[in-house]
Amino acid sequence: QKAENQILIIFGASGDLTKRKLIPALFELYKQNLLPDKFAVLGASRSTLSDDEFRKRADEFLPNNEKLDEFKKKLFYQAVQNNSAEDFKPLKSRLKEITESLGIEKNYIFYLSTPPSLYGIIPKFLTDNGLSTSNKYFRRLIVEKPFGTTLESAKELNIQLLNYFSENQIYRIDHYLGKETVQNMLVTRFSNGIFEPLWNRRYIDRIEITSAESLGVEGRGGYYDHSGALRDMLQNHLLQVVGFVAMEAPVVVEANAIRNEILKVFQSFRPIQENEVSRYVIRGQYTESKIGGQQVVGYRDEPGVDRFSRTETFVALKFFIDNWRWAGVPFYIRTGKKLPTRVTEIVIHFKNVPHNLFGTSSFEHSNNQLIIRIQPDEGILLKFGMKTPGAGFKAQTVNMDFHYSDLADTNVPAAYERLLLDCMQGDATLYARGDAVEAAWKFVQPILTAWETNPEIPIYGYPAGTWGPEDSDKLILHGQWRYPCKN
Ligand code: BG6
Repeated sequence: QKAENQILIIFGASGDLTKRKLIPALFELYKQNLLPDKFAVLGASRSTLSDDEFRKRADEFLPNNEKLDEFKKKLFYQAVQNNSAEDFKPLKSRLKEITESLGIEKNYIFYLSTPPSLYGIIPKFLTDNGLSTSNKYFRRLIVEKPFGTTLESAKELNIQLLNYFSENQIYRIDHYLGKETVQNMLVTRFSNGIFEPLWNRRYIDRIEITSAESLGVEGRGGYYDHSGALRDMLQNHLLQVVGFVAMEAPVVVEANAIRNEILKVFQSFRPIQENEVSRYVIRGQYTESKIGGQQVVGYRDEPGVDRFSRTETFVALKFFIDNWRWAGVPFYIRTGKKLPTRVTEIVIHFKNVPHNLFGTSSFEHSNNQLIIRIQPDEGILLKFGMKTPGAGFKAQTVNMDFHYSDLADTNVPAAYERLLLDCMQGDATLYARGDAVEAAWKFVQPILTAWETNPEIPIYGYPAGTWGPEDSDKLILHGQWRYPCKN
């Protein structure tokens, strides 16, 4: 069912995200006839641009297609300054003009894709101009990451936003929740009688999540150096993934039911105290190296990065979830830039059978693994023991491997497509709720504080193109990280 007619107002429209992700996602939705019958995008930012110039810019990232010209007619632009509520008047009149000329109802989604310093200001100016609420029409606010840079700032941001919009109008985007494979986690767990009964401390030995990137900071050094892997990837994307892996079955598949369960997971994280940080968390920074015969610069030599930077480009973490289901099961997460490959996957390591009948020398696998490949090559791999054909009883590990790409004619939508469409339809299931964001920050904050206040906690160098500091291996007492390149 199509969403109601509406206008999407993007603040930060001259930025990268708009060009690279938002407009292409909207075009994809348009091609599939999923946008509302009457729909417009109003780009807003400080630069002066005409509608035509904005459309031309959008072009750069859109594939040539017969529907392109028609789509571009839905794009409009309005320059907006952010100094006072007065500055939003032109935006308001432009909205009025568009709704009237195209006959679109005054349903608005405001998308904040600006520097975070504006997250408090824009909602205020919208409210001052009477744009944040309406008795007749919906008004929603999408907030891009980062949602705070510390626990304190995240709380403050929540308070600020709630001054102007109510929680059910606020959509905090985390593009990992838009990934098909992350959502499939719920279906894998709760629709399969073969997995559901095993998904707990009795049968699971440990859970491992790896999110590796082969790219470095790619011109984002200025931003990244004030962020680091813990803030950039772990606090948001990867903890949300943990929420899906670890939550109890929701009562229904609905925003609040699911978000309540995610919150409970976050509330059950065993806190890592500041004085325990070096035992549970390993941080690293890539150093110069040669990859495929090519010299690659170290992180500190990247543009925009401080020469003495102690910002982590790699983090590995061990932690526990103190609840009925997961008591005693270690969770391991690692993420980093300039690792050997790009892969995000979840590995469920099942416990061994009580007694190994088939000897150890020939039976290499120690336990069964279910590997959920979030990206690329989305799919699910199950590793299990099978008899090696021939004489005797030797066992070997074999793979049962499902690839999304095998589903003919099935389009796996990009994360932003799914999320934008959900917001247009008023479905917040795949958006982070304020209380959960704060709970995630509460868990991560002592780590940041320990790093900032205790210079003795090492930051290990790792040559670009390797799997991070060797010390991250020591986090896992029995066993080791799975190295996806080796399958
Ligand atoms: C972004 C981070 O949120 O996620 C980037 O800021 C990171 O540093 C990116 O590269 C990873 O997203 P994906 O979808 O490519 O795994």
